[in-house]
Amino acid sequence: MCGIIGYTGNRNALEVILEGLKRLEYRGYDSVGIAVGNHEIRVYKRRGSVSALESDIRKTSLSGTIGIGHTRWATHGEPSDRNAHPFLDCTGRFALVHNGIIENYQEIKEELRSKGHSFTSDTDTEVIVHLIEDLYEGDILKAVMGAVSRLDGSFAIVVMAAGERRLIGVRKESPLVIGLGEGENFLASDVPAFLKYTNRAVFLQDGDIAVITANSWKVLNFGGEEVKREVTDIPWNVESAEKGGFKHFMLKEIFEQPYAIMNTLRGTSSLYLRTVDENDFERIKIVACGTSYHAGMIGKYVFEEMLRIPVDVDVASEFRYRERIREDAIYVFITQSGETADTLAAARIARRMGHRTIAITNVIGSSITREVDEVIYTNAGPEIGVAATKSFTTQIVAIYRLAQHIAEVRGLAAHDDLWTELRLLPRLVSNVLQRHSEIEDIARTLKTAQNMFYIGRNISYPTALEGALKMKEISYIHAEGYPAGELKHGPLALLTPKTPVVALVPPDRTYMKMLGNVKEVAARGAPVIGVGAEGDEDLIKYVDRTIYVPRTRPIFYPVPISVALQLLAYYTADMRGCEIDKPRNLAKSVTVE
Ligand code: M6R
Repeated sequence: MCGIIGYTGNRNALEVILEGLKRLEYRGYDSVGIAVGNHEIRVYKRRGSVSALESDIRKTSLSGTIGIGHTRWATHGEPSDRNAHPFLDCTGRFALVHNGIIENYQEIKEELRSKGHSFTSDTDTEVIVHLIEDLYEGDILKAVMGAVSRLDGSFAIVVMAAGERRLIGVRKESPLVIGLGEGENFLASDVPAFLKYTNRAVFLQDGDIAVITANSWKVLNFGGEEVKREVTDIPWNVESAEKGGFKHFMLKEIFEQPYAIMNTLRGTSSLYLRTVDENDFERIKIVACGTSYHAGMIGKYVFEEMLRIPVDVDVASEFRYRERIREDAIYVFITQSGETADTLAAARIARRMGHRTIAITNVIGSSITREVDEVIYTNAGPEIGVAATKSFTTQIVAIYRLAQHIAEVRGLAAHDDLWTELRLLPRLVSNVLQRHSEIEDIARTLKTAQNMFYIGRNISYPTALEGALKMKEISYIHAEGYPAGELKHGPLALLTPKTPVVALVPPDRTYMKMLGNVKEVAARGAPVIGVGAEGDEDLIKYVDRTIYVPRTRPIFYPVPISVALQLLAYYTADMRGCEIDKPRNLAKSVTVE
């Protein structure tokens, strides 16, 4: 989830690119770089902010009317000067910026190394520009086409070549947009990057190659044939463009989940973890806070079912001050930001006790990465809304991958079908997102609620906890998550016709029990919103409203169901006029105890 801007025209490219990068930086990036030059390409890049780069550049005589720029959110290689984009090939003739993940970069790197290429960074990106150099026989477009046909993974790239007036952009599963100006054109990952200059845009599709000059543009497919793409007039101002046209960052981030999950799956496709590969252990201990704790609770059900290993899950602030007994366990710390004070403290304690430790986090170079032995990155991209959405579902996906990996290392019964189905999750999530209007309609019924319950059993219990957390933190409705079997031990006393209940009823081994619980709450007059699997006709008989999610394996339901519950919370909060991206009293990163 990096930011890309490319420019070709008659203005000073440096100014246009710096302006574009500032417009992209709102998402919170860790390093930045720029390449400009009509005959000779000059690159300036560094760790840190756009303004830091700008003050470096102002001391130089960098000029030109064509260039590319990049703000980086690290995936491969820590945030550093040398890992910042753009990258040059060995000859300094080509410069490239990239957004996404190249899965087969190691293999390509080895091949290019054997041909004499040398690399300056730890990134997956750098191989692309060397591949272009390797394939170049006088036509940059052909070289780029040859290079991208070798790449597995997701990418939006923009390439410039010394002495060329054209920029080439390629999109595969990562956004790239052409901005059309008068005597100037742009290529960017996001519209805000060029909105100051033009509101005419061409949104590229997967498999598109864009070639732009100051006065022309065209789009080709990977086979080199020209394809037609519509020009769109963008009605957004800069502020709404930053949100991709969505009303709030939270909604944008909810809708980014298919892509974010795909990135998690890609980034974790071949894990190597000494902690589990070279060590025997009898237990898994998971420690986290808030939403990440809920992901950890889902992890308990996943690991216990898949691996038959006992799992304990602790809230980090509790773990810190409990008596701890040394066990033959590995520790898994889950934290989106990697900066949560209690989780960091818990990681230090576990290490001091001599345990092997793994972190699941979204932020490369964050503090947790220095406190543990090994890290699994979720690669969800920056999350700006305080409410965790894509960071949560990608944490769950990272947990599935860890379970898959441990199962393989331990030679446990192959679950090939299961792991094949795991790859379908992005599609399932897209399907839920397409039902947003139905969910919005159901949210109308919650607008005036003061109290709510979310109930579930088994792996849907932590999903219910997270659904309730989303609702309470952004809509300020008091929402409680409960294991459905616990209702009759107290909470049933609170149910009235004014207490809506969201019941999670996917088809799993607790399905019949859940239907019993639904009848129980309906008998008290509570309105019930049932969340179940597509085609479950029985559910409709017992609930007032139904949200369907596509069918999948019981173990995977937390992902599509959570997306539906995020939308439900979002629309309810929006109808109540709440400040969704910055709920009162809350901060994105809790760096104090
Ligand atoms: O960055 P972390 O995952 O460690 O943050 C932990 C919690 O503060 C966080 O998950 C919080 O509960 C969510 N933002 C709520 O939506």
